[in-house]
Amino acid sequence: MRILEELRAGVTTASAVETQELASELARALAGDTTLALHGNLGVGKTTFVQGLARGFGIVEAVTSPTFTIYNIHRGTKGRTLVHLDAYRLESPKQIEDLLLEDFLVPPWCLAVEWPEKIGAWLPVGALHLDLGIAADERHTLRLR
Ligand SMILES: Nc1ncnc2c1ncn2[C@@H]1O[C@H](COP(=O)(O)OP(=O)(O)O)[C@@H](O)[C@H]1O
Ligand SMILES: [Mg+2]
Repeated sequence: MRILEELRAGVTTASAVETQELASELARALAGDTTLALHGNLGVGKTTFVQGLARGFGIVEAVTSPTFTIYNIHRGTKGRTLVHLDAYRLESPKQIEDLLLEDFLVPPWCLAVEWPEKIGAWLPVGALHLDLGIAADERHTLRLR
């Protein structure tokens, strides 16, 4: 679980590939059935991180931002299901209920959420929270709460 400790301490990356590699490593260390809330403004690397998670779950298809579709579902190896939710356009708890997301959370699942503050109360209590940002030197920052 070195990757969890590393992310808790906070890391910076110099490229999207480096961020994706960290995410892949995290994916391989994650227990089944985990929600990962990805906090941070536009362009900090939330979708980039999910691309790395997907790689770590053995997902080969392209992972793109589900801003307009709200969520995408990807199946990996070992029965892994990755549900990638972009909550940016959600405005009410009712809207998240209407997605019936639970129906797609087939164990072992990982729910990765961009703009999690939009659906705050809906997130499972055990969710992992990752804060992403960009430092003054333009390196991207990642820290697990
Ligand atoms: N160290 C880095 N980590 C993540 N992304 C980076 C990094 N350096 C540059 N980038 C670029 O920043 C952009 C991040 O975009 P994206 O992942 O879509 O952000 P978000 O989903 O948070 O809006 C991508 O174009 C990516 O290639
Ligand atoms: Mg995004």
